Amino acid sequence: MNVGLKTLILPADEAAVARAARCLAEGGLVAFPTETVYGLGADAANPAAIARLYEAKGRPSFNPLIAHVGDIAAAMRIARFDATATKLAEAFWPGPLTLVLPRTNDCAVADLATAGLDTVAVRVPAHPVARTILRAFDGPVVAPSANLSGHVSPTSAAHVQSDLAGRIDLIVDGGAVPVGVESTIVGCFEAPMLLRPGGLPRDEIERVLGRPLAGPPEDADNDAGQPLAPGMLASHYAPRTQVRLNAGNVEANEALLAFGPDRVPGAEAATAIMNLSPRGDLAEAAANLFGYLRTLDTRGARAIVVMPVPDHGLGEAINDRLRRAAVER
Ligand code: TXA
Ligand code: MG
Repeated sequence: MNVGLKTLILPADEAAVARAARCLAEGGLVAFPTETVYGLGADAANPAAIARLYEAKGRPSFNPLIAHVGDIAAAMRIARFDATATKLAEAFWPGPLTLVLPRTNDCAVADLATAGLDTVAVRVPAHPVARTILRAFDGPVVAPSANLSGHVSPTSAAHVQSDLAGRIDLIVDGGAVPVGVESTIVGCFEAPMLLRPGGLPRDEIERVLGRPLAGPPEDADNDAGQPLAPGMLASHYAPRTQVRLNAGNVEANEALLAFGPDRVPGAEAATAIMNLSPRGDLAEAAANLFGYLRTLDTRGARAIVVMPVPDHGLGEAINDRLRRAAVER
């Protein structure tokens, strides 16, 4: 077990980037910011490093990882792009979009990272720190969100530290991330399919494709078997406190996760109140979501009750994460 490692935390300067690249090359585990959430990186070609990564996260090993690369050319070395995939990559990379594509014959990503699937998830992140680390390392880096498995994703270095200190080698602190929810995952199958709503709204993708995305198959949502995108495990993005959605009122000993300017009856008596975006801005709400869930989770409330969030644009990803947080465990 990795527990007991000394985890170094460095501000994201040139020395930290060089150190991160060296650490990855030596099989180490490095947390770094992407524009969506902090990722926990390992050398995608090093099965021993990937095994340590699964262990550090406490992640079920059937859950495949996203390979992060510096540019489209590097992505094309590990995945086969058809016309649709190329169109999406050119429109949205670097950015919060992950494509699931067939592996190339000489794909460098270890089988352990793709859970034995013949597809690979790939993305070119936009965050300057992620980009400089990828450039310095010069190979694909697998990086799940840098949280303990089942916990909410980290949007700051402090979140990573609270979950993974003592389990990983290095945290590169690049401040709070701008998007706040994970990348949108599109499977480029016969019909392009939305596998996970995320930081790139569906309508922007559909506009480029000129047609609607297929939805994930019904059974992608349950815990059994080999899911298409196992991030769709029913309970995944979960605080420890119970979560109640679409709150019309707040009861005794409940904390309130608010959205927009409206007041909820009983709010005066809430254990704590945090508002995702008082002015009702979905991008601001996405950026605040995981941090506020973490904070409210520490307040000893009986439940976290959540006001309704509109389901358009980034609201689709926000509501997806909230539904998963609210699954009874
Ligand atoms: O924004 C993000 O995507 C962040 C940052 C760090 O890049 N990463 C992230 O990784 O959210 P993770 O491991 O927490 O979620 C990856 C998702 C999982 O749902 C996984 O099952 C799915 O991608 N996935 C990976 N490879 C796949 C494949 N070949 N087919 C279908 N789903 C796949
Ligand atoms: Mg995750």
